[in-house]
Amino acid sequence: MSAHVDTAGGPLRVALLGCGVVGSSVARLLLANADDLAARVGRPLELVGIAVRRLGRDRAGLPQELFTTDAEELVTRADVVVEVIGGIEPARGLILRAIEHGASVVTANKALLADDGPKLYAAADAAGVDLYYEAAVAGAIPLLRPMRESLAGDDVRRVLGIVNGTTNYVLDKMDSTGSGFSDAVAQAQSLGYAEADPTADVEGFDAAAKAAILASLAFHTRVRAHDVHREGITEVSAADVRAAAEMDCVVKLLAICELAPSGDAPNGNGKNGHAGQGVSVRVHPAMIPRTHPLAGVREAFNAVFVEADAAGQLMFYGPGAGGDPTASAVLGDVVAVARHRVVGGLGPRESAYAELPVLPMGRARTRYYISLDVADRPGVLAAVATEFARHEVSIQQVRQSVHEADPDRGDADAPGAELVIVTHSAPDAALSGTVEALARLDAVRGVTSVMRVEGD
Ligand code: HSE
Repeated sequence: MSAHVDTAGGPLRVALLGCGVVGSSVARLLLANADDLAARVGRPLELVGIAVRRLGRDRAGLPQELFTTDAEELVTRADVVVEVIGGIEPARGLILRAIEHGASVVTANKALLADDGPKLYAAADAAGVDLYYEAAVAGAIPLLRPMRESLAGDDVRRVLGIVNGTTNYVLDKMDSTGSGFSDAVAQAQSLGYAEADPTADVEGFDAAAKAAILASLAFHTRVRAHDVHREGITEVSAADVRAAAEMDCVVKLLAICELAPSGDAPNGNGKNGHAGQGVSVRVHPAMIPRTHPLAGVREAFNAVFVEADAAGQLMFYGPGAGGDPTASAVLGDVVAVARHRVVGGLGPRESAYAELPVLPMGRARTRYYISLDVADRPGVLAAVATEFARHEVSIQQVRQSVHEADPDRGDADAPGAELVIVTHSAPDAALSGTVEALARLDAVRGVTSVMRVEGD
């Protein structure tokens, strides 16, 4: 029996904004899978136009007559507008115009959603259209729909994940080959994993935007990119990665979103059953044990752990970038919003009722790995331990290896030691205060490596 496709109402018109790596995959798959998509939606989907900046470039076999440079006009004659241009403008203006003209919108634009999502939601609400964005976080991995819909009856406590493929590739290469950051980035660029300007990825901006979106959905609140504590991987050295290996750990760039007690947070408390709670959202490199499932996420893959009260621990894994994988998520959204057009109704709206304050990084509880180059003489360990005690940080592990005096370092008369300390969990402010105090001690010749430890 063939599926019912209602051609009487005419096809649903789809407009595509952008025809880069993702856009061209979306267009190709829309055209190639037209019959199946029509069967799944209940009406045919007609690609009515593709807006690009310049005409005349080779567009991978897509019909030339679909291309236009007039995006403003294109969005006024579509039922579904797919935005894969990226960046803030002109994407925001075009999305708002599409919504005003009654189109549902599918976007992959994490930067825009993390910057101005509430405005887009409000516009979609007012116009009675859908706003879907599965492809904005973790590419092909079905993650936002499960958070928005499947987990809507549960209480998410924590989201922990690798949401940037480029940095995961770079850190994975540093781990497997021993190379430094710059060499690993150059290799990632030569293989097409990293952009010519890798700033958005290696400085953690991309992951921070994704963390803001994940935290907003997970905790029914509003978190914007600028609320996210962000540290990239540019300072991660080959020595840090080696130190992690000695601890049987790997270094990963993690996005961590957690509910935490708000205490006396200046910006108040959560609402509706969230009294006394706030949210902590951070992106930074961290050591995780090799036995942790996230340690096994290699190359440019993404993986996200979600911990919910009733569900327990869930893990989502797969390709987080690339044309076809990202197009898969975009097309899933296109089918969803098109189905709503056929049968009526809308998908989930913004859910931000909890109004949680975003807590400063100093309140986040974490653990530190600290490696110190110290003088090897009586009282040094005591002086170091005193600083931990003074900051109320409890030490979990200490390892010392004495090394010979190094004439190259100009300390021929001063034998030294490497002191490696791993702490129990403590507020980040106490941990960073401890490191600053250690650096000031006479006996400490240098703080050689500091990294947070997560995942156990
Ligand atoms: N540049 C991103 C990454 C993909 O490396 O994961 C798009 O978000």
